[in-house]
Amino acid sequence: MSITKIGKYFHLQGKKMSYVMEIGSDEMLHHVYWGNQLDQIPTVLYDRAPYRRQKRIEGRNPDSVECTREFSHYECPIYGTSDFRLPALHGRNEKNGASVFDLRYAGYNITDKITQPKGMPGMMACERTQQLDVYLKDTLLSLSVTLHYILSPEIDCIARYMTVKNDGLEGFILNEVMSATIDFEDGNFSLYTLNGTTLREFTPDIRAFHPGVTLLGSTRGSSSHQHSPNAVLLRQGTDTFQGECYGLSLHSGNFVLRFEKDCYGSCRVQGGIHPLDFSWLLQEGESFDTPQLFLSYSSQGLNGLSQCQHSALRRHVVRGDYANKERPLLLNTWEGCYFDVNHERLMELGDACRETGIELLVLDDGWFGKRDSASSSLGDWIVNKEKFPGGLAQTADALKEKGIRMGIWVEPEMVSPNSDLYRAHPDWCLHVPGRVRTEWRNQLVLDLSRPEVVDYIIQSLDRIFQDGKISFVKWDMNRRLTEVWSQSLPAERQGETRHRYILGLYRILEHLVQTYPYLLMENCASGGGRYDYGMFHYFQQGWLSDNTDGVCRLKMQNAASVFYPPEIITSHVAACPNHQIGRVTPLSFRADVCTLFNSGYELDLTKMSKEELDEVSKICGRMKELRTTVQGGNFFRLTRDVMPEKEFGWMCVKGNRAVAGYFRPYCEAESAYWHIGLNGLEDTARYRDIASGLEMMGRDWKNIGWRPNWREGDYFSEFLLLEKVEQLP
Ligand code: GLA
Repeated sequence: MSITKIGKYFHLQGKKMSYVMEIGSDEMLHHVYWGNQLDQIPTVLYDRAPYRRQKRIEGRNPDSVECTREFSHYECPIYGTSDFRLPALHGRNEKNGASVFDLRYAGYNITDKITQPKGMPGMMACERTQQLDVYLKDTLLSLSVTLHYILSPEIDCIARYMTVKNDGLEGFILNEVMSATIDFEDGNFSLYTLNGTTLREFTPDIRAFHPGVTLLGSTRGSSSHQHSPNAVLLRQGTDTFQGECYGLSLHSGNFVLRFEKDCYGSCRVQGGIHPLDFSWLLQEGESFDTPQLFLSYSSQGLNGLSQCQHSALRRHVVRGDYANKERPLLLNTWEGCYFDVNHERLMELGDACRETGIELLVLDDGWFGKRDSASSSLGDWIVNKEKFPGGLAQTADALKEKGIRMGIWVEPEMVSPNSDLYRAHPDWCLHVPGRVRTEWRNQLVLDLSRPEVVDYIIQSLDRIFQDGKISFVKWDMNRRLTEVWSQSLPAERQGETRHRYILGLYRILEHLVQTYPYLLMENCASGGGRYDYGMFHYFQQGWLSDNTDGVCRLKMQNAASVFYPPEIITSHVAACPNHQIGRVTPLSFRADVCTLFNSGYELDLTKMSKEELDEVSKICGRMKELRTTVQGGNFFRLTRDVMPEKEFGWMCVKGNRAVAGYFRPYCEAESAYWHIGLNGLEDTARYRDIASGLEMMGRDWKNIGWRPNWREGDYFSEFLLLEKVEQLP
């Protein structure tokens, strides 16, 4: 398991995966293979080239090599000669406008020193991680390109990114640059994606590939509710339990995932920065790094792929002290109090938290400036002394005495026109001189491409966190970017603004992680509007959606779990009727839906009856008991269907413990009551059902399955707790 160069081949070998490239006789880097692990690279692989290319190789084709590029598979396809598919990069020489590329192989390096794209999140090294850099050169354009491949052999994932450097004296304008390209020999896949909008994030979809380009992306400045920057290519017949699948995961800003099925049935897959309104000027000696694209592979269905994705996030992405620590059970004030927060209310809630076993109280919106509604004060990160006369520190200290830690909400990328910050610096927001500044939730977006704006945000946050009293921060972003133009950039660099914005954001987040590693950081963008691998380099958990309805949540959590482990996905028990869709569900069902994820509460405990509070206490006890298995555990979905609609099953396995949960929101007349095959247990270990004492081998729990105590009625949910009692050789 490692990266090797054998003759003209590069072989990236994981535990169960191989990725092979070849330095072609044309000195271009060809894609050869990505799939199940190969023991060796037989030279016969070259014959996998499409038929037309084969004819050329055999000399039966009168066309010259330059004419036949569209038959080949490349790692860094270029535009301007005979490959008419989507290129890995595109741009122009500033002086003569030429845009024809010719990138030839110029060497390689294999090392265990891992690099990350400049100023951006990237895969972190851990044991056995290796990096391959392949150098390509265009001598006429004076451009050098480095393709970076970081292999985590244990996890079967590769992080890829690209560096483009201008070695010449003339400027070069990049206007399209992909993090990675994979040219599959065939296009016999379907595509699993997650789509939606606010309150309806993570709605899965499966589509077939047709000739032409399929494109998913965001032009909103964040990775968006509309299309998640995560996707999976599914081989025909792949389901939750078996079959080949390929995972793709991208970063936090404008992104594109595009798939081109060509006239020969081959499929080019690419991910990178969305090219719309993007450009980057490279002056002499300057270079540009793309964000990383994570690639993962499994031949064991979507559950197998999730094991790769979850491990990659846990071991290579998430940082901070909480990366490997149990996340506390929290109560967030938003749905219980909205903007009506003050010291006294927090004290009452703190008492209720203590009584029920909740460990952390998060003060959501409304604590700063003159913020009594969404109409003012973003940017003025100064505590409102009418609501909190002793400042946040006094409230935090008083909560600490009750045994409760304190967290706060912030939305630092924004400015309200009605704020002291805006009055002092009206030019600090993204805007085009002379045009309307679109207000969205009454707010504008600060121009994070400007270093002085980034510095202001860092100073404001330092003022809040430096006394160490706050243990948790929920970072929000409640609108999209419009009128993108920066006062600080010259005309020829305006196409850089969006990417510079993301770099500015990453700089602030890097500062927080480095300076306050003990902080638990929650990612939110009106719910799941920026739920991506870039953000989770800084955040240890993420608010999946503002929709807290238990039934809606089943689908969203199920889909999000394909890419994100359960401790990342926060899920709160909220009040009924549900504030977003008005549905009434029993407290027990709402709580069960949260329990196999990072669970918490979002309701006014002080309005609950004694009976309800007793129930909440019991639920908290169980959430805490189970979270030791849930958080950091191996997570499996229990429905074969990758897009279940009516029933949902989840399972977490860690050490000697396992917990399975089954959910059927709506009862149907005369429906079958079946056994649920369990996943993730060891075949040759014996497990006991803690409640009934029933013991079976792991493989029998899988094959015979678990029979929940089915009941008629809506909102059925049940858990099964297993403990390993014997391990057979
Ligand atoms: C967004 C978030 C909510 C809440 C509000 C506060 O909508 O998604 O959870 O924090 O902002 O204004």
